[in-house]
Amino acid sequence: MIPLLSLSLFSFFLRSSVAYVWPSPQLDALESIRWDQADRFGGLAGFILPCDFYTFGDGTGRANTADWIRTAYHDMATHDVEDGTGGLDASIRFSEEQQRGENVGNGFQNTVEVFVSQATRYVSIADLVALGLITSVETCGGPIIPFRGGRIDAGEPNKPGVPEPQEDLDAHVASFARQGFTQTEMIGLVACGHSFGGVAHADFPQSVPELHDSNNTESVQHFDTTFGHFDNNVATEYMSGTTQNPLVVGANDTTNSDKRIFGSDGNVTMKSFADSPDTFASTCATLLARMVDTVPSGVQLTEVIEPLPIKPSRVELILDGDALKLSGFVRLFNQSDDASRSVAIQLEDHSGKQSEKFPMPADRISETLGGRVTSAWYAFNKSDSGPPALSINPADGVTKMRFIVNGKTEDQGGIGFAVHDSVVFSTSSCTTSNNPLKGRFDVAVRNGVNPARVYLEQEVRDDVDRIVVKEIDLTPSTQSVAAGSSYSFWSIEVTDFESYTIGAEIEGTKISTWDSHSIFELSPCTPKRRSALFLS
Ligand code: HEM
Ligand SMILES: *[C@@H]1O[C@H](CO)[C@@H](O)[C@H](O)[C@H]1NC(C)=O
Ligand SMILES: *[C@@H]1O[C@H](CO)[C@@H](O)[C@H](O)[C@H]1NC(C)=O
Ligand SMILES: *[C@@H]1O[C@H](CO)[C@@H](O)[C@H](O)[C@H]1NC(C)=O
Ligand SMILES: *[C@@H]1O[C@H](CO)[C@@H](O)[C@H](O)[C@H]1NC(C)=O
Ligand SMILES: *[C@@H]1O[C@H](CO)[C@@H](O)[C@H](O)[C@H]1NC(C)=O
Repeated sequence: MIPLLSLSLFSFFLRSSVAYVWPSPQLDALESIRWDQADRFGGLAGFILPCDFYTFGDGTGRANTADWIRTAYHDMATHDVEDGTGGLDASIRFSEEQQRGENVGNGFQNTVEVFVSQATRYVSIADLVALGLITSVETCGGPIIPFRGGRIDAGEPNKPGVPEPQEDLDAHVASFARQGFTQTEMIGLVACGHSFGGVAHADFPQSVPELHDSNNTESVQHFDTTFGHFDNNVATEYMSGTTQNPLVVGANDTTNSDKRIFGSDGNVTMKSFADSPDTFASTCATLLARMVDTVPSGVQLTEVIEPLPIKPSRVELILDGDALKLSGFVRLFNQSDDASRSVAIQLEDHSGKQSEKFPMPADRISETLGGRVTSAWYAFNKSDSGPPALSINPADGVTKMRFIVNGKTEDQGGIGFAVHDSVVFSTSSCTTSNNPLKGRFDVAVRNGVNPARVYLEQEVRDDVDRIVVKEIDLTPSTQSVAAGSSYSFWSIEVTDFESYTIGAEIEGTKISTWDSHSIFELSPCTPKRRSALFLS
């Protein structure tokens, strides 16, 4: 028999050694939004910085972070461990749930609007609810919380089930048990959540009066003195008897739920939190991860998303006349700005030949975890004069990239970073008419690939805001040979303003390009430009 200790060590090493191989579209997307929290190309931290930032209205005293954390809890709290229903599935976006007494306030709608706008085919609204909590805690002083992706957005509201402050202790213990948490875990979760925000006069006028405070125009009586920051003040202030937490010292004892919950084990848990900021932080990391991973039965979450140390990003390959142009970035995770670092890219073509090593200029530094970690980004052949692209002979094509950082080859243990050159957007795509707006998309298909279908992909929303991908088929063009016979065109005329990515079905497998194109980016079709592109 394997002793328990070595078994758990084994699974530790097993888990920490599992790094996925790039590219993997869903994991890449989840990894980016999870780890590039404050990058100019996206990341949720832009919505919450500074940490007491409040987007909706001019008021002070509220914070988006607090709304996001409360939203995650109220979305999850419908879970029923017995029948597997409810859990973190973005059902809180339904007005039927928001109108329930257990979900008083406009913080849910404010939050949901942001996450609906950020969802993609790879990152569900529910994953964003989880990431909203994680990004808030990590950006605003809290611990790193393990994140898994793959949540599925509910198609309808869940049963009610969020605890309310006027309920008694037994009801709260029973409610958390139904959600899957013990009494001790309940104390922890409430303290972790109530490190942020407070109770608003607008929502609980009997508990919180108008405060007449120019620094708190929304009249939110905060749970602790640092309402936009993760720390154990909620516990130290409670233990020292100085707390102003309205659910502890409220005039009406019926609604003092934090007082009943925090004291329910003789203050043992709260004392441990007050005594040690580290104990509080690590307990919250574990409990909040379990909270956001509480999903309806049947939903399969991914592994914990670890950062890729070397990650290509926004890689785009297009056919531009008689050349393939490769552009993009590579991110060196958790690396600071370093003028002496050298980064280069080397390409492999279809015959297995390696290109020369092209130097990659430094592009930018991004921050994550509230500035505790920076990442250094390098661009593919960025030049001030021309487009940031490497030129590739279409006949040779490209199959792989490798990066060379300070002389060391980074290629995912020899696998390389795969690039698909079989189906690419062509810059011969152009607008045929301005009024009404019409444009032709040309997709260049590598000769010999023989796809069953080539199509434009458009992300659309169903009637409950879930992203679905609509496919619009292209047909092979009559003027079909391009780029020295290496590629043929498939084309379609479109008349709408959407952005499209390109997809194809090749030998029963669907492939999809990362980059999106819209009719607005196309230049007018001129006979000169068109004829120059067809080299038959
Ligand atoms: C018995 C369990 C709980 C009760 C009775 C409770 C009650 C409340 C109440 C009455 C408010 C004020 C809402 C408003 O003013 O509109 C509130 C706010 C909040 N709750 Fe809880 N809560 C509980 C558990 C939790 C948990 C487990 C979390 C997260 C882990 C959490 C996170 C928050 C946050 C962040 C706020 C501040 C919202 C803001 O300022 O906008 N709560 N809670
Ligand atoms: C509001 O905050 C500022 C800066 O922290 C402080 O100087 C001022 O005294 C506060 N005003 C009130 C009414 O508390
Ligand atoms: C205290 O709060 C409870 C629950 O909201 C309410 O029913 C009761 O009337 C309140 N008591 C007083 C004295 O306001
Ligand atoms: C818990 O601590 C608070 C604050 O010091 C105190 O008022 C309360 O009586 C304590 N409760 C228990 C059950 O010890
Ligand atoms: C960043 O790198 C340092 C060592 O340079 C390491 O201690 C730390 O854990 C890393 N942080 C993350 C989030 O990977
Ligand atoms: C890099 O980009 C410039 C400007 O577009 C271009 O002239 C040059 O040929 C490119 N270098 C390579 C190696 O593709």
